[in-house]
Amino acid sequence: MSRPLRFAANWKMHLGPDEARAYFKTFRTRYRPREQCEVWFFPPAVSLEAAAQAARDRADLVVGAQDIHWEPKGAFTGAVSGPLVAQAGAKATLVGHSERRHVFGETDADTRKKVGAALAAGLAPVLCVGETLAEREGGQTLAVVHRQLAGALRGLEGGKLAQITIAYEPVWAIGTGRNATPQDAAGVHREIRAWLAARGVGERARVLYGGSVNLKNITELLAEPELDGVLVGGASLDPASWAELVHSGAA
Ligand code: PGA
Repeated sequence: MSRPLRFAANWKMHLGPDEARAYFKTFRTRYRPREQCEVWFFPPAVSLEAAAQAARDRADLVVGAQDIHWEPKGAFTGAVSGPLVAQAGAKATLVGHSERRHVFGETDADTRKKVGAALAAGLAPVLCVGETLAEREGGQTLAVVHRQLAGALRGLEGGKLAQITIAYEPVWAIGTGRNATPQDAAGVHREIRAWLAARGVGERARVLYGGSVNLKNITELLAEPELDGVLVGGASLDPASWAELVHSGAA
């Protein structure tokens, strides 16, 4: 019997509302729902409503935001909040994606406020963690991941903590064509699971892997039982090949 798997598509700054509608049309003709398999989509904020509408009759297709502000509303020009994206149909949000951390200077303290804001708005947070190449080469991988977990999740107890999905995405693997070996990824996933288990989360923890996941490596990656799914950028932008990737991974 297969385990539950989650395939998450991070569209980043691609696909406006019209393109999102066309994307779902193709995706839905190519993708046959599979038991135990969820497909999550993180479109840019302007396309949330179009994506959520296109997926609304399907419980296995979930739409989420790429980022939210920690305040529910206010004078924060250019930002969107948990309640606003929820109104557009989002059920989840990424928090602390490496591009938010490294391009926009987001800190661990920010991620903590955003996780709290997501939970308050009824959104499932997907917390992204991962080390840079220099940190990896300096033997700091676990120290960095533990710091990011503690920074974002400190103070949350079992029930709330169990609602968080973790995406382990080594920064050096994102968009570079390089990825961690399944065994390397699994080692970090085990540590993340142990961190959560020590705080009462045990079996329910969901840990995804991300960073240059594609059609060629998906089968090998998901052969590793530590991976509960994947978070995919570049290889999720074409709806037909994304459907194929999900089918290969779930096979
Ligand atoms: P990538 O991006 O699959 O293009 O490496 C993954 C991500 O940033 O979530």
